[in-house]
Amino acid sequence: MRVAPAGNHLARHARLRAALADADLSALLITSLPNISYLTGLFASAASLIVGPDELRLIIDGRYRGAAQDRQRDLPGLALVLVPPSGSFEESIAAELGALGARTGFEAAHVTVRQHRDIVRRLPKADRELDLCATEGLVEGLRSVKDAWELGRLREGAERLSDAAKCILPKVLAGRSERGLAEIIVAELRRAGFDKPAFDTIVASGPHSALPHHRAGDRLLADGDLVVLDFGGTLDGYSVDLSRTVAVGKPGVRERELFDHVAEAQESAYLAIRPGTSAETVDEIARCVLEGAGLGEAFCHGTGHGLGLEVHERPRLGRRRADRADEVLQAGMVFTLEPGAYLAGWGGVRIEDDVVVTEDKAEWLTDVPRHL
Ligand code: GLY
Ligand code: MN
Repeated sequence: MRVAPAGNHLARHARLRAALADADLSALLITSLPNISYLTGLFASAASLIVGPDELRLIIDGRYRGAAQDRQRDLPGLALVLVPPSGSFEESIAAELGALGARTGFEAAHVTVRQHRDIVRRLPKADRELDLCATEGLVEGLRSVKDAWELGRLREGAERLSDAAKCILPKVLAGRSERGLAEIIVAELRRAGFDKPAFDTIVASGPHSALPHHRAGDRLLADGDLVVLDFGGTLDGYSVDLSRTVAVGKPGVRERELFDHVAEAQESAYLAIRPGTSAETVDEIARCVLEGAGLGEAFCHGTGHGLGLEVHERPRLGRRRADRADEVLQAGMVFTLEPGAYLAGWGGVRIEDDVVVTEDKAEWLTDVPRHL
């Protein structure tokens, strides 16, 4: 697995420290595993990280000692803290925070009430006053704009996914089961060089295509079906995502019309993308096209989502919300455009591609023919 060069990690640390200074914090406790991967290059199933003014303290258990030592050789300023076999992460975190004695943030979205209680309870008495401040999205905000190395991984992933899709689409044939087709897709993702599928592959045929996240089952594809395929792969930790809707046999007039409306929604959203526009505006533009075709109710999810170390990350291209500021698009953001329209009991269409925001517009990363 390739890991970003040390210089990229050091630049990420500098950006994070600047964000901490803006938030009047001198340290951050990080418990989101993708955020830890982003800052250290370590992919672990359990770890915590404290980013202090001068160094990063990576808290791990014995299972990741070797991998963490490899990362330490690459990253000066990364100190390792091993959780003792009879100890807990919360104990080690409290000991490190107590020693730091700094105004520290924690990630409100990634610490459970129980973990918070167990950390605070274990802080040395004198440090109970230590400010432990809830923060939101500090690292996720940095992650939403990709650096050149990340863009390279996502471009390569999108190329591999497009190649896989071109092999998969001709295999959407009457008589195959949804599950059998999902297995073909997963095998094709492996052949294309992905480390793993990015999520459970969706194959939704006939009336099931009206269910956006249908689980592939035993239904056999039949002539006249619309089939929604939604699959993705993870390469070097970075996920890409694609959906196509295919007709088995000759598509009917209604199927074609539905497809054309969704395709127009996707194209309109694409043309609206530029730095400075909000993600919510792009969603609104796709939604307007479908509403204009009487399909407003049929479009029951957002227009897209960011891609990176998680398959769903910022920016979120959804409806404007009263409780959140709009997310302004910036060059270097990578996300999906995936409008859909679903008619219960009949069928549905989704078309999904991945794009990157450039200095003045958007560029498609995936390249697969779009037709029924
Ligand atoms: N492709 C699956 C999803 O975006 O939820
Ligand atoms: Mn998606």
